[in-house]
Amino acid sequence: MTSILVRNGLVITSTGIYQIDVRIEDGLIMEIGRGLPASGVEEVIEARGHYVLPGIVDEHVHMREPGLEYKDDFEHGSKAAVKGGVTTVIEHPNTIPPVDTPSRLREKAEILKPKAYVDFALTGVLHDGNTHLFEDILAEGAVGFKVFMGPTTGNIPPPSDSSLYEILSKSAKYNTRIMFHAEDHALVVYFTEKARKLGENPILHRDARPPVTEVYSIAKIATIAKYTGGKPHIVHVSSIDALEAVLNARKLGVDITAETCPHYLVLGEEDYSKYGSLVKVNPPIRGGIHREKLLEAVAKGYFDAIGSDHAPHTPEEKSKSIWEASAGFAGVQTMLPLMLDLAIRGYIPLTNIPKLLSENPAKLFKLWPFKGSILPGASGDLVIVDPNTEFVITPEWLEYKYKISPFIGWRLKGRVKHVVLRGSIVVRDGELTGVKTGVWLKPITK
Ligand code: DOR
Ligand code: ZN
Repeated sequence: MTSILVRNGLVITSTGIYQIDVRIEDGLIMEIGRGLPASGVEEVIEARGHYVLPGIVDEHVHMREPGLEYKDDFEHGSKAAVKGGVTTVIEHPNTIPPVDTPSRLREKAEILKPKAYVDFALTGVLHDGNTHLFEDILAEGAVGFKVFMGPTTGNIPPPSDSSLYEILSKSAKYNTRIMFHAEDHALVVYFTEKARKLGENPILHRDARPPVTEVYSIAKIATIAKYTGGKPHIVHVSSIDALEAVLNARKLGVDITAETCPHYLVLGEEDYSKYGSLVKVNPPIRGGIHREKLLEAVAKGYFDAIGSDHAPHTPEEKSKSIWEASAGFAGVQTMLPLMLDLAIRGYIPLTNIPKLLSENPAKLFKLWPFKGSILPGASGDLVIVDPNTEFVITPEWLEYKYKISPFIGWRLKGRVKHVVLRGSIVVRDGELTGVKTGVWLKPITK
């Protein structure tokens, strides 16, 4: 029997901010209310003046196991997650081998389980060769699927139009969200060839994948979703044009949702000269109005979710020339701190943090209300944040295998103080205290 009481904190939920106590018993949230008694409780966390958030559900991580452990591994990645306030991760399938059969899904879970500092859920990948396995992968415990429409790490080929139709038809039939990496393959190849001829300035990566590649891909996905009733989730939306394409489709009745990532909200084209290949990511960091408009869209609630797109590579891979370097960078540990900083500085409402980083990801991928909520009966996962402290991101704080991040040296408002996972304090006063007790989460089906 373990029990903790988090007392007098400001509980932030998607619907409001309440000064209220939360009692967790045997891993579950038992009671929420004012002035809950401390008698019989093993530990009281005094949270006056602090924010209390639901544990963060990062719907977009590439933790590299199996097959790519030389880049990073689940032990480091899940440790980093928990230190950044993430208590559940949804792992993406572009590993080696890719997660494209039921047995590969099961094997991946077995590999991750003994290394997990956080709870995790798995996605499968769909391509021309395995759409017939949709049901079997689902039955094995996938919470959703990923489809790559354009080239990126893993080089998983885009589906044919008929496979896309098949995938979205099954998405409708089984009420399953499909995450799309929406950059049109042929257009990316065309623009990359053109950009490469112009030299090796890192900013050319932006021109190799202009917004039209995203818009064109989303238009295709949305068209087929309209006729099948499928449920696409466009991940890592990087341009305002792409968001508009999503919102236009929604107006036509398509059940389409969208995610963006912190890096599109805090980095801009000036960062190519500052960081070089380190900020190479697909889709690219853009210039002009995109960052400002995307931030505005997050504030207004046009996005459904924020994910980190945590995508670690080695220092060697990230220091090559822009065309040779790998795309993506680690981000699971800095997602919540960056978003908290934006909220505390007034760019986005605080209530959007639990909504976009916790509740909605859990809802989209069938983990809600067990994950992503502060409700009686839910998993006892909380993040306690001191909003009045500033902290600087240092390599020593980062738990990644390779301590590289564009955000090293950034000073942020708000500090993740304590993290609670299923009733256990896994981060205490900023220090990791948790052990590898993470579990594999299968979808909640009603
Ligand atoms: O830059 C990226 N890196 N974008 C992706 O979509 C995948 C990711 C990775 O896995 O490296
Ligand atoms: Zn992607």
